[in-house]
Amino acid sequence: MAKALIGVIGGSGLYDMQGLTGARELQIETPFGPTSDAIVAGRLHGIPVAFLARHGRGHRLIPSEVPYRANIHALRQLGVRYILSLSAVGSLREEVRPLDMLIPDQFIDLTRRRESTFFGQGAVAHVSMADPVCPQVADCLARAFHATQSDQPIRLHRGGTYVCIEGPQFSTRAESHWYRAMGASVIGMTNMPEAKLAREAQIAYATLAMATDYDCWHEREAAVTAEVAIANLQQNAARAQRIAAEAIRLLGEDLPESAAHSALASGLVTPVEALS
Ligand code: ADE
Repeated sequence: MAKALIGVIGGSGLYDMQGLTGARELQIETPFGPTSDAIVAGRLHGIPVAFLARHGRGHRLIPSEVPYRANIHALRQLGVRYILSLSAVGSLREEVRPLDMLIPDQFIDLTRRRESTFFGQGAVAHVSMADPVCPQVADCLARAFHATQSDQPIRLHRGGTYVCIEGPQFSTRAESHWYRAMGASVIGMTNMPEAKLAREAQIAYATLAMATDYDCWHEREAAVTAEVAIANLQQNAARAQRIAAEAIRLLGEDLPESAAHSALASGLVTPVEALS
């Protein structure tokens, strides 16, 4: 089996990873069925990387259909220790303008019909999600953002809460105001349960969230449509590729130890000897 150190999960508009050398497509079997699409494994800056298109190439899966457990299980089978999640989001804050980027440090999970754990059926664990984002991976993303800024600067916001809704419909205006009142900064449909499962798999996870719209709370801006969100995302896709590539280089250089890597040390309840 090919090995990979870093997994990149590309969201809407990000269906491949440029610059991978020796790329091979892998169909990895998991106890949870197939992954969203073949995983493309290769090297970037000499570092083994596995890329997965979250919605499948050609964007075929709605957020509720993404096989989150299969995706994380397959990356884990490859040996992935760090995940970079590249995700489109709506902005819930005036200062986070469309095309800005944000690295969340918190999530609120409002999803309703997704399998969100690897545990159960004889194996019990309660991993800590107090700090769901790996600060070391987030730092690499932030450093990569600043290292790859071009002539047309966009802004990076460090920290903030990503509220994850079930979708696929966008929010009502009342919901959008409610999420703002909760203190959320951005809204998306996919990072939960992905981040929870990554933590259970002891993989360090961080998101580069790309704002595409102001959802529907803003008085002077039109409510989000898929058309506008995708057009804005396409404007940022090349930039996201450059940031991901540089973050991979930095992670490969540092190989930071993360609290996520030992999440089960304090989370596993069923004694290891009792697990078959
Ligand atoms: N992804 C991009 N924009 C979004 C929004 N406004 N709501 C949910 N997910 C999104």
